[in-house]
Amino acid sequence: MAEKQYSILVVDDELSMRELLEYMLEKKGYRVICAANGKEALSKVKKEHYDLLLCDIRLGDMTGLEVLKASKKINPHVTVIMISAFATTETAVEAMNQGAFDYVPKPFENKELLQTIANALERKTLEKEKHALDNELKESVHFGKIVGNSPRMLHIYEMIRQVARTRSSVLITGESGTGKELIAKAIHEQSDRADEPFVTINCGGIPETLLESEFFGHRKGSFTGASTDKQGLMEIAHKGTLFLDEVAELSVPMQVKLLRAVQERVFRPVGGTRDMSVDIRIISATNKKLEDEVIAGNFREDLFYRLNVIEIKLPPLRERKGDLLPLAQHFLEKYSQELGKQVTKFSSYAIDLLKKYDFPGNIRELENLIERSVALSNTNILLPDSLAMSIHKKRWIEGIRNRRFDLDEVSRGVSLDTILEEIERAYIEKAMECTDGNKNKAADLLGLSLRSFRYRIDKLNPN
Ligand SMILES: Nc1ncnc2c1ncn2[C@@H]1O[C@H](COP(=O)(O)OP(=O)(O)OP(=O)(O)O)[C@@H](O)[C@H]1O
Ligand SMILES: [Mg+2]
Repeated sequence: MAEKQYSILVVDDELSMRELLEYMLEKKGYRVICAANGKEALSKVKKEHYDLLLCDIRLGDMTGLEVLKASKKINPHVTVIMISAFATTETAVEAMNQGAFDYVPKPFENKELLQTIANALERKTLEKEKHALDNELKESVHFGKIVGNSPRMLHIYEMIRQVARTRSSVLITGESGTGKELIAKAIHEQSDRADEPFVTINCGGIPETLLESEFFGHRKGSFTGASTDKQGLMEIAHKGTLFLDEVAELSVPMQVKLLRAVQERVFRPVGGTRDMSVDIRIISATNKKLEDEVIAGNFREDLFYRLNVIEIKLPPLRERKGDLLPLAQHFLEKYSQELGKQVTKFSSYAIDLLKKYDFPGNIRELENLIERSVALSNTNILLPDSLAMSIHKKRWIEGIRNRRFDLDEVSRGVSLDTILEEIERAYIEKAMECTDGNKNKAADLLGLSLRSFRYRIDKLNPN
């Protein structure tokens, strides 16, 4: 792949100067276009995008400052460097105020001018990168404690708002770790029951024999060990919300008992003689397909319809990749604070690694991953290695580090591009690791100019 070629428009009324600059810049690999006066320059700027304008201050028809102003109007992002033999400090200052990147007096040292140009282009790339990242991160909309503003999540926030106003039963479905419990709590918190209890029953985690008493409570002496009266969770949730987590795990006999309570909000404590009635909102959650459980005869249809008045389906993280970085940043801040660390951001390689992974364990997996990585990290930038320690990608990176050049492979066919890219990536990552993510130092370690180093990073991280 050829290095991205920057294009530079040279504006000077003196032919010898244009020729000199053209020769010098082309030798450095830039694409150079020349204009002999202001009018020609502006008509070129209108037609084509240039990364940089190198503009003399005294031109035949206009002043360099006029060209600067006019071209900024056409393209506010164009970078302009002014050159002049005649400029006073005032003109130089004015040029900078008008948005020129720098001002170089004539006669100039070739090296110095080239350095100024390289700096200007470097800054441009930096700004672009920063802008792209800012855009991704600033979008992190919170809905209470919920992070994410992918269209799928915005739709879910809307549903939460709507159902919060009602007392309807809600069934939340979604793969493990997609945030079902978080959504259940959000519904409660948005509702007018917010100040009343939110009570969770983990239907899969309580032994069958205790479940009935757990739900409905019991009277003293109703069974061995029932030495006092005990309030059931249904009663405790009175006026609030009862959250039936992993509802598919309920046994069929327990489903029968629950049906009446769900239907009429009336139940009888174990060993009791009188019914109790409560005012509760019921939210259930499952990572199973409850319809399939109904068909298979594992879940009662009547209870299913009672619980599933409104269904909220949570998409897996891989189907809303737009939420990945905001979530990752959220957890980075959370665990950085909790663990007393100062890890503030991800290296671009770490981001790359996250983007490539599809998180079968969804947000919980992402959260655990970041927590472990923050704990392992001893730099303020989270580098891919501490992430890779936790993801199976570790093997991938190690594979490259320990790579043997197996030339026999060649006879079976290889992709040289991929191999070279992997090696390049491994070296760059190692250099970043050695320098705590300092690109200047990392470039030095690899004997590269900063610009060439950045270029390689860009190439490996196409956005
Ligand atoms: N959108 C989100 N924003 C911030 N944190 C989230 C989000 N979704 C989930 N989490 C966090 O991820 C973790 C897992 O979420 P939760 O326990 O709600 O998932 P779940 O669907 O109930 O998982 P399981 O099926 O395994 O019980 C929790 O720590 C939760 O706070
Ligand atoms: Mg859960």
